[in-house]
Amino acid sequence: MVRQITFLEALNMPAPTMDIGPYITDAFSADGYCPEDERQALERKYAPILEVTDKFDRRSVSYQLSKNDALHSWLKYKEAFSAELVDILLDEMGAVPGDLVMDPFMGSGTTALACQMRGINSVGFDILPLSAVSIMAKANVMRYDAAEIARVIRDFRALKMPDDYAGRTPYITITDTAYPEFNERFIQFATDWMAASAYSALAKNLFTLCMVNALEGCSYTAKSGQYLSWDSRSKKVIEANVQRAKAGRRLLPEHRCREVVGNIQEAVTVELSRALSDIEAIQAGGAGDSGATIDFRQRSALFELPRMEGDSLRGVITSPPYCNRYDYTRTYALELVYLGLGEAEIKRMRQALLSCTVENKPKIEAIRDSYAETGARDRFEYIHGAIEANAAFREVRQALSLRKAHGDLNNNGVIRMVEGYFTELAFIFAELYRICKKGATVAFINDNVRYGGEIIPVDFLSTSFAEQFGFTAKRVYCLRQQKGNSSQQMKKYGRAALRKSITIWAKE
Ligand SMILES: C[S@@+](CC[C@H](N)C(=O)[O-])C[C@H]1O[C@@H](n2cnc3c(N)ncnc32)[C@H](O)[C@@H]1O
Repeated sequence: MVRQITFLEALNMPAPTMDIGPYITDAFSADGYCPEDERQALERKYAPILEVTDKFDRRSVSYQLSKNDALHSWLKYKEAFSAELVDILLDEMGAVPGDLVMDPFMGSGTTALACQMRGINSVGFDILPLSAVSIMAKANVMRYDAAEIARVIRDFRALKMPDDYAGRTPYITITDTAYPEFNERFIQFATDWMAASAYSALAKNLFTLCMVNALEGCSYTAKSGQYLSWDSRSKKVIEANVQRAKAGRRLLPEHRCREVVGNIQEAVTVELSRALSDIEAIQAGGAGDSGATIDFRQRSALFELPRMEGDSLRGVITSPPYCNRYDYTRTYALELVYLGLGEAEIKRMRQALLSCTVENKPKIEAIRDSYAETGARDRFEYIHGAIEANAAFREVRQALSLRKAHGDLNNNGVIRMVEGYFTELAFIFAELYRICKKGATVAFINDNVRYGGEIIPVDFLSTSFAEQFGFTAKRVYCLRQQKGNSSQQMKKYGRAALRKSITIWAKE
């Protein structure tokens, strides 16, 4: 009989010789403006382990494949990766029931849920309350009382808001007047009704999840890139146009986020009914009942990992926020406000997330204090020293400073963001190495980026940090489809191939 080779054996073999040429960056600095020797050196060093693969594609590293999945689609979270991707990686790392796998950036909980279905225990973090709601809802799929959820649907559908009901769902500045008047009132009315009801905690949480999913479609906003786009039928845009007209300024253009703004009562009913049919199907199949545990903590991985015991993880499967200025707290403002966050809390949350926006302030002092609190000041100095000594990281910082001086960065916060991003990630890599067992495999999904004409090889730079802290670089899977350039960068500096990669490291 032919013995199947294991993932680690496969990783110890050279990457298959597929043409990696188009995926290797030959010029990091547009017009040769900045030094790029160190980035070139990384490119040469890791090219032998680069593998262009069809195993993963744009759909599997994004939410697209999960969209129609029972359970995995329960939270509409565009930043999620697919359960299929987690399954492939779990297979490849040879994880078995009883193992412990971590996702330090849980998001909607795809890693945890895919692990649970296979009897693998998981642990992980996220700061967003959306994650807590999503993971609680999905992890307990076998525990719902389907008859109770059917009652919730029936009662909710029959709910009548009195004409004189005066409550209103709260807003913050960037969500102000996001809903048509009926929805604005009904969201609050239904929320109070559910809070006062005698339904179980699980049913209440599922209701919250369904409400969260329904908010955007019942609003005058749409998630669009880094911000919310606004419908011109919203009070906010109408009032802005009145002011603009008075001041003789050009009016904001006509824009529809959607033709018909949903009715919140109908939309939540649809969400609940969909969840109920998934629950019935999953419970009938018995697939979710593996007995595996999910240890989710709504806290920052950056500050929690250093406090965890060493040598416990069989593997890590994760995708951190990308270094792309994407602001989760803006995109999910409606949902966060619904979950009870106010203006100040959202600002604090923005700062607590891994630095990936131009507004992020450095966290290095807070990290130092946190290590000091646990008597690990030396360890802080060791990790920080290694980060500062990384030659490619130094080159990237220097290149961005030169670009800034030359007026090539459209926002000076980019330098602070890039510095914070890699510094914080590198602390996480160092701690993951400590927490992993010997033989563990770590998979990070990420995108390369370009700012001011400077390409930052996020995959190889991360791998070089990981190696500094003890990991062995095994493979860098690179998707056949590369990342599109921003139109601004493309116009100014021409097209550049940007890899979308899955880096695989091992603790040997
Ligand atoms: C790309 S998403 C992960 C999506 C996830 N793989 C899924 O399938 O849903 C990155 C997540 O990292 C979270 N995050 C950012 N900074 C964090 C931190 N310091 N600690 C823990 N989670 C953080 C964000 O809130 C976001 O949900």
